[in-house]
Amino acid sequence: MSGAATTSHTIAVIGGDGIGPECLDQGLKVLSATSEKHGLEFEPVVYPFGTDHWLRTGGTEGGETLPDSAFADIQQMDAVLLGAIGDPRAPVGLVEHGVIMTLRVGLDLFVNLRPVKLYDQRLCPLKDKGPADVDMVFVRENTEDAYTAQPTFEAKGTPDEVASQPMRYTRHGTERVIRYAFELSRKRARSHKLLMIDKANAVRAQDLWTRTFEEVGAEFPDIERDHAYIDAACMWMLKNPEWFDVAVTTNLFGDIITDVGAMLQGGLGIAASGNIHPGQVSLFEPIHGSAPKYKGQNVANPVASIMAVSMMLDHLGHAAAARDIEDTVARLIRERKIESLSAGVQPTDVLGDLVAEAVAE
Ligand code: IPM
Ligand code: MG
Repeated sequence: MSGAATTSHTIAVIGGDGIGPECLDQGLKVLSATSEKHGLEFEPVVYPFGTDHWLRTGGTEGGETLPDSAFADIQQMDAVLLGAIGDPRAPVGLVEHGVIMTLRVGLDLFVNLRPVKLYDQRLCPLKDKGPADVDMVFVRENTEDAYTAQPTFEAKGTPDEVASQPMRYTRHGTERVIRYAFELSRKRARSHKLLMIDKANAVRAQDLWTRTFEEVGAEFPDIERDHAYIDAACMWMLKNPEWFDVAVTTNLFGDIITDVGAMLQGGLGIAASGNIHPGQVSLFEPIHGSAPKYKGQNVANPVASIMAVSMMLDHLGHAAAARDIEDTVARLIRERKIESLSAGVQPTDVLGDLVAEAVAE
């Protein structure tokens, strides 16, 4: 892993399924324009993993999702860019698990960082809310919870069937993500407040989160502690988004509430995320899925992939280059050169060229 001073990086690029590869191509276009301007060098190593690859290598007869040898190579790189995974030709969750979960868990990417920032009033579905009201960041735990517990089925297919997949939390996993969120709250100038979102009133196992939040919080006396249950948090997000600054939550709840967040900032066309282990190889991706119906048509909106590239640059210590991309996208949105964040308004490659050229200026 390269430190902040390193200007040359090797990155793994996994386009994946559906619109993933074509969107990520635009991200790479913007990355190369930005690198040139800021004196950085990126060597992308492109991998074919995704449903096509799984089918080509045998599908249900032992098809490959992410081979160990590639995983070992990726571990030695500086970062990963991922497009999207998901395709109806494979069993639900199989390739997602084989690629996304393998990387999240295998690389121990315990933070799923999801900024929610509105760049222009016209993109917000809430009336009377503008950019000053929607500027928050979610820290979603990324390696535990029902996501990584084993599903079990007893008496499968019978009227007595019982299925379960427990919400499992460890002190270690809970503590490190909460500590990361407190540190982030300290860096954010906005409010120095951290909101913890859980459902400890119903899921009593989350008492571990309650206690850990209090104990770690005692080390951060300058950060105000706040708490909301997930159902109420979803409601407040829509009613008073200006109350949100930094929030920390469990894996499953974080998955759900950050899709709500994406809508507040203009939709999945712009929402990006980082799967992070501080100081180690981390993965950046748009939040949107693979949208198979748009595949190969040059209609998908690549802005989220471009924002994922910005997050990657920030993680690698290139804050100015990261901000350059973010500011450029924000300006193009305000100037209506990026007309929409939806699919089918401007061609995918046209949007990529637009941002790349504007960054280079
Ligand atoms: C996300 C996605 C994934 C998740 C899916 C594809 C497994 O929805 O990154 O939010 O649930 O984490
Ligand atoms: Mg999700």
